[in-house]
Amino acid sequence: MNKTIFFTGAGISAESGVPTYRGRGGVWEQYNYEEYACQEAFDRNPKKVIEFHKVRRKAVGFCKPNAGHLAITAMQGATIITQNIDGLHQRAGSKTVIELHGSLWKNRCNYCDETQEIIPGEFYYKTLCNCGRYFRPDIVWFGDSLKEHNIRQAMHAIEHCETFISIGTSGAVWPAAGFPELAKSHGAMCIEINPEPTELSYMFDECIREKASVAVPKLVKRMLEK
Ligand code: OAD
Repeated sequence: MNKTIFFTGAGISAESGVPTYRGRGGVWEQYNYEEYACQEAFDRNPKKVIEFHKVRRKAVGFCKPNAGHLAITAMQGATIITQNIDGLHQRAGSKTVIELHGSLWKNRCNYCDETQEIIPGEFYYKTLCNCGRYFRPDIVWFGDSLKEHNIRQAMHAIEHCETFISIGTSGAVWPAAGFPELAKSHGAMCIEINPEPTELSYMFDECIREKASVAVPKLVKRMLEK
């Protein structure tokens, strides 16, 4: 079994054209999450929130996986734990992907738990569930809890990994921000790929200050040649 974990954040998709959340040009600089990304906003004005996510789906639907996503697929058997909702790891061909913050390509009904898959590029899905309520995006919004099953699966993989590679995350959002420390405390070799230092950089054994599309292919090649 391959005991490598790729733990990814918005930075790995930045070069595909998906904006990051924090920093210049970030989603939360442009949009107030209280109006677009929390259950209260959806309850107040579902159409406005649905429209916002439709626009995001459309934008992300045009983005393509980059060399970073593609290089990861060469590491067969590795586990990917992602905070991203864009589905680009799966579109690159990765199979084992734990989506901690849900998916832009799924809707769910809060009342009857009905879910709906959305095919990237297909935007004419139903907005109403069979029970008559609005579907909401199956994304972890501000104030939502993460799915217990996903956290347990992620933590189990981290506790048994040998190499933990963090790519393009600021490490600002919990519980994901605690994952590098968990990996380290279980003896994993920890590597960070991020052009900028993060609050968690101090705990990595190696920090690669390059963009994901450059650094990930080089690192994967190095690991496969070992
Ligand atoms: P952030 O936007 O907080 O951080 C993105 C990180 O990517 C930063 O540290 C950048 O320096 C780095 N970065 C930018 N371009 C890069 C590149 N080309 N290659 C590598 N790294 C690059 O995004 P996340 O850490 O993913 O949650 O944010 C975590 C969560 O906060 C998101 O999942 C989202 C948000 O609120 C929800 O929506 C629930």
